[in-house]
Amino acid sequence: MFGQIARQVATVSARSFSTTSTNNHKVAVIGGAGGIGQPLSLLLKLNSNVTKLAVYDVAPVTPGVACDLSHCDTSSETAGHVGPEQLGAALQGCSVVVIPAGVPRKPGMTRDDLFNVNASIAKATVEGVAKHCPKALVAIITNPVNSLVPMAAEVLKKAGCYDPNRLFGVTTLDVVRARAFLGEALKVDPQKVEIPVIGGHAGITIMPILSQCKPKYSGSQKEIEALTARIQDAGTEVVKAKAGGGSATLSMAYAGARFAGSLLRGLNGESNVIECTYVESKITDASFFATPVVLGRNGLEKNLGMPPLNDYEKKLVEAAVPELQKNIKKGVDFAKK
Ligand code: NAD
Ligand code: LMR
Repeated sequence: MFGQIARQVATVSARSFSTTSTNNHKVAVIGGAGGIGQPLSLLLKLNSNVTKLAVYDVAPVTPGVACDLSHCDTSSETAGHVGPEQLGAALQGCSVVVIPAGVPRKPGMTRDDLFNVNASIAKATVEGVAKHCPKALVAIITNPVNSLVPMAAEVLKKAGCYDPNRLFGVTTLDVVRARAFLGEALKVDPQKVEIPVIGGHAGITIMPILSQCKPKYSGSQKEIEALTARIQDAGTEVVKAKAGGGSATLSMAYAGARFAGSLLRGLNGESNVIECTYVESKITDASFFATPVVLGRNGLEKNLGMPPLNDYEKKLVEAAVPELQKNIKKGVDFAKK
């Protein structure tokens, strides 16, 4: 009888401490003390699917940011990690790694102008992922997303742990903006708007597919073109408005928390978790392309492919693909150097 009880206790303990428990997730925010990183970490601290939150940055304020967050009365544990020697501790055991580390644009710059500085930061981070949490889902926010995601794929391939279903470029802010602007145009709650935004995350590669908007958007061709341009240039709108003080941080934290939250919901086996995201793709001649995907227990479960396009949207895609191919080559070449 005592033997039976001991066996039962042992089984319960093994279950409680099992690292494969589906609802037991550590999430790291790399660049967690930055303009995006701090509010993103706060939103993740409020997410009940996060059990451990690791805030990693090179900035000395990082332990203070983690201490501050740890006073929020939610049940997850928060830890701060500073500098390359603590990157391993931040990444160890992570289910999801979100990366907003790197420099933002100033007025007059393109996202591509950030490549030289940010590619080195992202490369070192992804090398850390390969070493410390090769099975984690990795979500790259740092710009230029169009080049850094293919670069990260090469780094992971070199390390022998690349899984295309586990690497994502975060384009959620484009969807969030499209919903906000369409909500305003349609005079409906933006939360009720459904709109695929495909392609990439810079200029003409950002393609809101307005013909598929629900509720239906029936603007004139002139209005469609103006709204498309506004969504494509929305990042620049914020950069100009901040007048040298950086780029979007709060809306990006909101979008990043939504995307990371969706990754976690997928990992937990929730059905029908769909997000637009920039992933390895065979849908066009660009080897990375954002489309709506279903997220599941292993990351990307199913790519839902190209939404139906009208003639105007087909032309947008035709123009975007060569631009994306250039961006992708830049990232791949950097990783191979
Ligand atoms: P920020 O300067 O406020 O914060 C960046 C943080 O990264 C800083 O705390 C810095 O210390 C940290 N950092 C620098 N080097 C690091 C390293 N090697 N390891 C870890 N952390 C490091 O910038 P931000 O406004 O938070 O923007 C961050 C990035 O996100 C930029 O590249 C920006 O262009 C990009 N961004 C992307 C989107 C998107 O939609 N994907 C939206 C907005 C901004
Ligand atoms: C955005 O879309 O807000 C980000 O990519 C930041 C930027 O440089 O525009």
